[in-house]
Amino acid sequence: MNLAKQVIAEELRLFEKHFKDAVQSRVALLDRIMQYIVKRKGKQMRPMFVLLSARLGGPVTDRTFRAASLVELVHTATLVHDDVVDDSMERRGFFSINALWKNKIAVLVGDYLLSKGLLLSLSNRDYDVLEILTEAFKLMSEGELLQFEKSRKLNLDEAVYYDIIKGKTASLLASACAAGASTTMEDPVLVEKVRVFGEKVGMAFQVKDDLFDYGMYNVGKPTGNDIKEKKLTLPLIYTLNQCDAETRRKLIYIVKNENTKKEKVSWLMKTVEESGGIRYAEEKMNRFRDEALQLLHEFPDTEIRAALEDLVRYTTDRKY
Ligand code: IPE
Ligand code: IPE
Ligand code: MG
Ligand code: MG
Repeated sequence: MNLAKQVIAEELRLFEKHFKDAVQSRVALLDRIMQYIVKRKGKQMRPMFVLLSARLGGPVTDRTFRAASLVELVHTATLVHDDVVDDSMERRGFFSINALWKNKIAVLVGDYLLSKGLLLSLSNRDYDVLEILTEAFKLMSEGELLQFEKSRKLNLDEAVYYDIIKGKTASLLASACAAGASTTMEDPVLVEKVRVFGEKVGMAFQVKDDLFDYGMYNVGKPTGNDIKEKKLTLPLIYTLNQCDAETRRKLIYIVKNENTKKEKVSWLMKTVEESGGIRYAEEKMNRFRDEALQLLHEFPDTEIRAALEDLVRYTTDRKY
């Protein structure tokens, strides 16, 4: 992602300052947690998508920076809540907020981050950006709830999986791109094109994240957590639909009853790998990536387009 970072180096520096200012609090405990969040920043891919999408239409403005901060605030809020929901103790290579301060505080911290984001937009009358992001937040909650509902029944349907990830992840990336674009572009048709581009990137992004759960390498958060939470993701869904009845029965038994037993989960992962589940998910991920790149190619061949292309490729090639 070097090219992307280079092209918007100055904008990213200003964004970081903007984000830091946006989360300040006079409540000592909250301020301490906010400092922790600022220090343990993530990859900041969503703000990069906001900034680069905006640059497709022209130079960034104050509104662009506020959009980038709002997007990262919403993202951070959902991560803090997600780790409570998924009972996950590690985030960004360190303890999650719920691991350090417990669930009760993590829930309130997530609410605080979200309301800070909404206020930032409201007090500056950024209504269009606010509408785009509020819609995304609704879709994200719906996506996570759909995932819950389906994990109870062990969803085996690939189409339902896409529905889930479209809501819980792609909607925010779509909104990041649309919000950025809306700060520099007049034509709603163009903004919509950028939104669809972001949605494709978001689909690829979550398939990649789900592949991490099957990986052995250190991604800064737990692996095997999806199985533990009975979340069936694409590699396993594919395998369950391909394998013989006996293997399927065994796999389902592990997900339902033995999802914390190391050797059982290892066997499940090995079976998924051997049946081509990983390869299948990678193919689907690359298809979403290519659809995104194709949409991008409807824009003029500029340095900004090349930087966005670089960021899209990073989405599927990244190691964490
Ligand atoms: C994690 O997003 C949440 C998902 C949608 C999978 P990121 O991988 O972008 O998280 P950070 O911000 O870089 O930590
Ligand atoms: C994405 O799902 C989470 C959100 C959209 C908030 P995951 O539960 O897979 O995300 P990670 O793996 O914990 O980051
Ligand atoms: Mg999670
Ligand atoms: Mg995950």
